[in-house]
Amino acid sequence: MDKPKVVLGVSGGIAAYKTCELLRRLTESGHDVRVVPTEASLNFVGEATWAALSGNPASTRVWESVHEVPHVRIGQGADLVVVAPATADMLAKAAHGLADDLLTNTLLTARCPVVFAPAMHTEMWEHPATQENVATLRRRGAVVIEPAVGRLTGKDTGKGRLPDPEEIFEVCRHVLRGRGRADGPDLAGRHVVISAGGTREPLDPVRFLGNRSSGKQGYALARTAVARGARVTLVAANAALADPAGVDVVRVGTALQLREAVLEAAADADAVVMAAAVADFRPASYAEGKIKKQDGQEPAPVALVRNPDVLAELSSARSVPGQVVVGFAAETDDVLANGRAKLLRKGCDLLVVNEVGEAKTFGSEENEAVILGSDGSELAVAHGPKEFLADAIWDQVTPRLAPPAVLRRA
Ligand code: CTP
Repeated sequence: MDKPKVVLGVSGGIAAYKTCELLRRLTESGHDVRVVPTEASLNFVGEATWAALSGNPASTRVWESVHEVPHVRIGQGADLVVVAPATADMLAKAAHGLADDLLTNTLLTARCPVVFAPAMHTEMWEHPATQENVATLRRRGAVVIEPAVGRLTGKDTGKGRLPDPEEIFEVCRHVLRGRGRADGPDLAGRHVVISAGGTREPLDPVRFLGNRSSGKQGYALARTAVARGARVTLVAANAALADPAGVDVVRVGTALQLREAVLEAAADADAVVMAAAVADFRPASYAEGKIKKQDGQEPAPVALVRNPDVLAELSSARSVPGQVVVGFAAETDDVLANGRAKLLRKGCDLLVVNEVGEAKTFGSEENEAVILGSDGSELAVAHGPKEFLADAIWDQVTPRLAPPAVLRRA
């Protein structure tokens, strides 16, 4: 089989040095990469580096090898174009269809998916001109990854950092996997909310009641949703995982904090997926100081109270008409029967039922599940990485989404 052809566009930002790592990941994982830098970007990383790392020529101008018509052929032959870093200027040119160098020509001739990984100072990112350009590109089907928050060039800190190259690579891999999708990214223009991880209910300053959820399934859902074009809010409960690229991560600890964060984010969401393991109970009281053992005395029993059921609440009082609500169920016995009963009880549209046990699901890279629909549908998802299940869930969510116009926008 031919290697997938990736065009890696590099525009003139200091983050171009990080793109070397993205290029290395792409070539090592079997992609044929052609780097197309802009003239300005060569101030940061030179042509020789790109040519040596990719094993292909790396030209900036349309006037080289003219007989091969590179300004048309490179874009036409690509399976994916990824621009990293994408400067404010590059986003503006792409949004307006300018074509004054090899990269902008390539963007106009490409018929494959296009991913932009912007990097710039916060002021430039937040400027209405940039935001409108980003909206235009997304509307046309491009995947524009939200920049990361953190240290920028010089003394500044804020939103605008190029996401980790590993994260951009993951988005590229997902977009390439779904390149057969007819109309481009099927979650473009949608806002999805995902809860992940497991809540911790504190007993005292050093102890809590918790569970073994790692958060990996929720994070896989977030990554795949970004690759399918969505704006993603990830409410993460105690997950020791790196923030996925392009995702707004809200960190929470307890079930009550998770409820507040999910309900707030759900106010303008097209879909909410509750992948978090939310504690059903919390200690009735919290000891301000550490609970000490007393010599010769049995410990006092721990009284528990019920936590609100966030999934049931989301399902019964949908903040947006037509919002799709997805729940998860971890079952040890009578998996399907219990799953169907839970689907009815919770009132959600889809329920992803996992069989769990000591050696299954928790913390593992793979998953096996059945997706039940409130319409009686039942889809078994074969054993595979958590990302396969994530894509299978989005495949079930997208046809159930209301037309964008029906949704009330915040
Ligand atoms: N969930 C929730 N709020 C809770 C408990 C669970 O939103 N307080 C959500 C989970 O995120 C998951 C789904 O409900 O999507 C299923 O959770 P589970 O604990 O399996 O369901 P329960 O109703 O608690 O059923 P049981 O404990 O009897 O298995």
